[in-house]
Amino acid sequence: MITFILNDQPISTEASPGSVVLDFIRNDAGLKGTKEACREGDCGACTIMVGELIDDDTIEYHSVNSCLLPLGQMNGKHVVTIEGINHAELNPLQQAFVDEGATQCGFCTPGFIMSLTAYFLSSDSINYNDAITAVDGNICRCTGYASIQRAIARVCQLLLKDITGDKLNALISHKIIPTYFKQIPAKLNELNAHNQTDIQPVDISQEIVAGGTDLFVQRPDDLIDKDVRFLSSEPGLTDIWQDDKFCYIGAGVKIETIRNSDIVRKQIPKIDDYFRLFASTPIRNQATLGGNLVNASPIGDTTIFFLALNVRIGIANENEKREFKLKDFYVSYKKLNKKAIDIVEYLKLPLLSSQHKFNFEKVAKRTYLDIASVNSAVSIRADANIIQEVHLSAGGVSPIPLYLAESANYLVGREVNPQTVRGVCRVADAEIAPISDVRGSEIYKRLLLRQLIFAHFINLFPDNVNLESLYRFTENEIH
Ligand SMILES: Cc1cc2nc3c(=O)[nH]c(=O)nc-3n(C[C@H](O)[C@H](O)[C@H](O)COP(=O)(O)OP(=O)(O)OC[C@H]3O[C@@H](n4cnc5c(N)ncnc54)[C@H](O)[C@@H]3O)c2cc1C
Ligand code: FES
Ligand code: FES
Repeated sequence: MITFILNDQPISTEASPGSVVLDFIRNDAGLKGTKEACREGDCGACTIMVGELIDDDTIEYHSVNSCLLPLGQMNGKHVVTIEGINHAELNPLQQAFVDEGATQCGFCTPGFIMSLTAYFLSSDSINYNDAITAVDGNICRCTGYASIQRAIARVCQLLLKDITGDKLNALISHKIIPTYFKQIPAKLNELNAHNQTDIQPVDISQEIVAGGTDLFVQRPDDLIDKDVRFLSSEPGLTDIWQDDKFCYIGAGVKIETIRNSDIVRKQIPKIDDYFRLFASTPIRNQATLGGNLVNASPIGDTTIFFLALNVRIGIANENEKREFKLKDFYVSYKKLNKKAIDIVEYLKLPLLSSQHKFNFEKVAKRTYLDIASVNSAVSIRADANIIQEVHLSAGGVSPIPLYLAESANYLVGREVNPQTVRGVCRVADAEIAPISDVRGSEIYKRLLLRQLIFAHFINLFPDNVNLESLYRFTENEIH
């Protein structure tokens, strides 16, 4: 039995935990305001909000794509659809969309409204740029974005003045959300919502689901009949913490949580920008680190990112725990150094010193909401411009997420200058084996990696390396 609150109504259902929330709200609950289009997390028409108790009185709300959201994960949560924020009349956000001509066929509009409502509920302060980021997973096919931007600007302006202190009450008084939201924490407590289970031994007949953003794209029908185990309810996997030598990130931590983590930001100040390139806000709110690592996509963004931080991965089953370098996790295409009964528990990052520099680059066909053609990361510790330690990774250029060991060896002990960068590009080119596919030809990917290595050094050592000095060599030097 799955129990949760849908808008202001308690729900108990025996529907399959491996079915998706979109089907429940449209077909079982009859709420048709949430739209269905791609069913792959790509369009945002199905966006809803999910609220989760973080203590007895406080709920955190996030936007998510209901087409990829497993129903079984809704136990003890507040699920909010467009109907759940409606009043008798349009609220100021809905009215702004109408007044600015930001809705024509209206198919995308509920998704935009839900993404923005989640943003207003979850952000500490309101500003236009962040509100625009909040709709990075919503696509409109007919209106044109200028009118949507105007509507968002208008509402931000309205709320900016008033939303301080007690945000929930302020949003209620502006009719952005209805009054019943105030009663939801008590109702979720009644559902005994935050009774969580410990990490369980793996039963290999079970399907392990973390965020589900890979699994529910690949084989949604298959999951409906499966015995599904949800890692998101296992608290040991969902923390970020640090000691005096390492920072640990649980495998069940959501990508958006990593992006907003103060602990991670201390290590990687630009984490916010780097992880903004990962999918969209609703996908990041749902997708986990562990899912990205185990998915083993050769272009997985977090995999490439963390490979260059020389991290170790912790995996466990009922009988043993193992910890080893992340680069040794990937054996061949989608083949991992992991038994079927193993759960990935955490990544362990050595704390970086002030001498460490880190950079991540991603090239995709679109800047946002797209997977990479080629991505790459580097961490470098240099002393008086001599490289002491370096870790370099690249995605999309080999059957596995690649740790460029030979390139790193080449760099150690060398001075940071254009000649060194040109040299490491040649070594990297010999170390990779890209294939031509929909994301680009082999030659294009080789060129991209060269450009990304250029970008690493130009960004990290602007006094030593610039584009002009790097371009002073011919294509022949690479091939
Ligand atoms: C629209 C869209 C855009 C995307 N954009 C990007 C992008 O820009 N960059 C990118 O890298 N990826 C992207 N992805 C892919 C996907 O979101 C990520 O790979 C995500 O991190 C997967 O995590 P998850 O928790 O949803 O995995 P799930 O789908 O839950 O699981 C994936 C696999 O990992 C296994 N698994 C999960 N956690 C564990 C664990 N702790 N231990 C053992 N096994 C585990 C599951 O059994 C399953 O086999 C995108 C996906 C979509 C739908
Ligand atoms: S239907 Fe397109 S994101 Fe869900
Ligand atoms: S209003 Fe038609 S898709 Fe956006």
